[in-house]
Amino acid sequence: MSFNQELVQKIIKLKKEKNAVILAHCYQNIEIDEVADYVGDSLYLSQMAAKTDADIIVFAGVYFMAETAKILSPNKKVLLPSLKAGCLMADMINLEQIREFKAKHPNIPVVCYVNSTAEVKSEADVCCTSSNAVNVVKTLNVKDVLFVPDTYLGNFVKSKLNGEVNIIAYPGYCPTHLRITPKDVLEMKAKYPDAKVLAHPECHSEVVKLADFVGSTTAIMNQAKKSNEKTFIIATELGVVERLKRDVPDKEFILVSNKAICPNMKCHHLEDIYNALLYEQHEINVPNELIKSALKPIQKMIAINS
Ligand code: 13P
Ligand code: SF4
Repeated sequence: MSFNQELVQKIIKLKKEKNAVILAHCYQNIEIDEVADYVGDSLYLSQMAAKTDADIIVFAGVYFMAETAKILSPNKKVLLPSLKAGCLMADMINLEQIREFKAKHPNIPVVCYVNSTAEVKSEADVCCTSSNAVNVVKTLNVKDVLFVPDTYLGNFVKSKLNGEVNIIAYPGYCPTHLRITPKDVLEMKAKYPDAKVLAHPECHSEVVKLADFVGSTTAIMNQAKKSNEKTFIIATELGVVERLKRDVPDKEFILVSNKAICPNMKCHHLEDIYNALLYEQHEINVPNELIKSALKPIQKMIAINS
């Protein structure tokens, strides 16, 4: 694949001059990998944001990811290349709604998917990502859990724990993953009968049931790499398929549906990264009090995973 190499070199030079680090989620336009220091899923990127000693973090991801990076590294300048990069799932619950949800189900610990705003996180006991949600809920060692905002990830965790934990899930969802239907999976399976289906737990439960493996972005990529199988139907965002095709050229990867594209994740282009670094735009700020309260559940999650 050929990208604008001149621009790539300009970004790399500027990044060094400004002691900046570029974090990119696997759903980003693949050209971003040419300049990124770390590419991965939400958990990996939040761990990298906590560890980095750079002065500037350019986050090629969505708003909640940049906000999480700011909470973890409050003394660093965190930049989101395009302000259009929101997350529709994160916007499905606000401070008032989580407070109402908690009031309706009092004295139950709240597990909050990182795909949420800082205000919502500040009301939670612990955060999770799709790669550690089962472990986080298990570690709490309680009978009941409130899970926000993704109802499908909540249902997936419940099934993995054999119903041992009563998970009361908020009715949020990811519109991108819900565009993948059971019909899409069945049609692809009929077309590629030897293929294994790898799905993200944000998918609808009926899609998850049809999958051979369910896991986060990184888990899906690792499974495809280590498996002895040769053909895979990928039930998650396009970026995962593009990276697998690039990194594992001797295997075949089929995107389950051409609707599995997150428009918000595709907002950033190399030009936006360059402008972000050059003009130090668009800076993400979180009020100090909010940093303190949202940090606790994020740190608790990171501690569970370390
Ligand atoms: P992961 O990076 O945890 O797989 O999450 C997927 C996602 O939807 C990020 O917005
Ligand atoms: Fe949000 Fe879904 Fe896009 Fe992830 S894929 S950023 S959850 S809308």
